[in-house]
Amino acid sequence: MKVSVSPGHNINGTLIMPIFEGTESVPESHAEGMHTALKSQVNMVLGEGDFKGKAKSTMSLVGTEGGKAMLVGLGKKEDADVHAYRKAGAAVVAARKKSLGTELTVRFSGAPVDCMGSFAEGMMLRDYSFDNYKAEDEDKEDELEVRVTCDAGQEKELSSLIHTLAGVTSGVHLSRDLGNMPPNDMYPEAFADQAWEWAKEFDNVQVTIINYDQAQKAGMGGLVAVGMGSSRKPCMVIFEMNSDKKGRGPMLVGKGITFDTGGISLKPGANMDEMKYDMGGSATVFGTMQALAATGFEGKVTAITCMAENMPAANAQRPGDVITTLSGKTIEVLNTDAEGRLVLSDGLWKAGEFDPEYIIDFATLTGACVVALGHEATGLWSNDDDFRTRIHEAGNAVGELAWPMPLLPAFEKEMTDSKIADTRNLGAGRWGGANTAAAFLKQFVPNRNYEKDGEQIPWAHMDIAGTYWGAKTNTMVGNGATGVHVRTMYHLITNG
Ligand code: BES
Ligand code: ZN
Ligand code: ZN
Repeated sequence: MKVSVSPGHNINGTLIMPIFEGTESVPESHAEGMHTALKSQVNMVLGEGDFKGKAKSTMSLVGTEGGKAMLVGLGKKEDADVHAYRKAGAAVVAARKKSLGTELTVRFSGAPVDCMGSFAEGMMLRDYSFDNYKAEDEDKEDELEVRVTCDAGQEKELSSLIHTLAGVTSGVHLSRDLGNMPPNDMYPEAFADQAWEWAKEFDNVQVTIINYDQAQKAGMGGLVAVGMGSSRKPCMVIFEMNSDKKGRGPMLVGKGITFDTGGISLKPGANMDEMKYDMGGSATVFGTMQALAATGFEGKVTAITCMAENMPAANAQRPGDVITTLSGKTIEVLNTDAEGRLVLSDGLWKAGEFDPEYIIDFATLTGACVVALGHEATGLWSNDDDFRTRIHEAGNAVGELAWPMPLLPAFEKEMTDSKIADTRNLGAGRWGGANTAAAFLKQFVPNRNYEKDGEQIPWAHMDIAGTYWGAKTNTMVGNGATGVHVRTMYHLITNG
């Protein structure tokens, strides 16, 4: 999608008209330049209440004497915030028919610049499909060309806002592409190669790959144990942006299980194909780096993704194995399907080497989190209440909900109750499974400078098992991988 901004009233192609609930005739600001017949058609549907302006509703009209329009509802005027505008923009792209053509002109009636930007953002976000694996479609349409009209005084601010939002959207779409890729093509080394190639595009980013041999030598027992049963060997990918900048920066850590069969603790067959999304955490991290790089972010940011394929095999780990992680802590592996926490134990510990301001991990970690919050909200845990609130608020600001969940000492105790090792990868029962997983991770969050009696680095864990895909109520998405939290992270990192 190409989006341009300009003042003026000429209409190129189809006129997109965002309308508040209760509008009974064509608003003055929309009327100029419209074909008379089209205008009276729109007046009729508004006057007779055929189009009520309800949030996300749309109606396409082709004028009898030329001119085309699409009405899109913004809902009640008093509730029309950036979220309403973003959803309306997405609704236009979702409902657009071929007959409306590829040239669109959006005209608002008195919207603030941030709302206009959000409308364009919704259009850009929703303009996504994953069809690399389908035969070339001869009817495939050309790229959409969208012109957003505004007042002369708004042009500069709006076009720079839309330029930024386009960069952030490219990060969301990268995350979605990675998650939608089939697992035969998206395996640990493929992810690492893609990151490596990507980094070449930017002067201020560096990617380092810790391969299987190096991971073994370094003592990354969690990553190695999970990945060793696959012919596609595990690796760790480190992204460093503006690493020469002084001071501390954020650190993102992602679970990157490119396929989760459960390992020897094999999952049931139904819907197992969905476990290609088990690298959603790593996709979130990579997508965030893309969003930051594309928008020219100048601060320091570091990220680590823990890539492995969890397969049952003669050389796979067994339930009952005890492994030694990078931290030196031993884990009794009671269920090989609780593998995300094993790879993250090494990723979180490694994160301490970069002396980050804070660490946030993203993981499609537990089915229990989907039971708790459905596809509506991400589970959010933190060792720092203020930090957790900041993330919660960043999510709200962009319309990606992250819900605060408890880190209780009782959960941690449950996870250290191993007869033969320091800790275990399975709770005592299935209750509170998302919380015991979070408590398990907390044990691997390093203290500042790894000081024995020091303070833990501020850390948050985001369980995106339910939100990284299947978000049917989310009009911004359509289907498949959602790319959730790239926008949350962009907001958090760039707004302090
Ligand atoms: N990748 C799964 C979690 C998952 C489940 C993500 C459903 C998305 C949808 C994870 O590795 C897993 O299998 N977790 C187990 C943990 C259990 C064995 C303690 C689970 O949730 O059942
Ligand atoms: Zn699993
Ligand atoms: Zn998993």
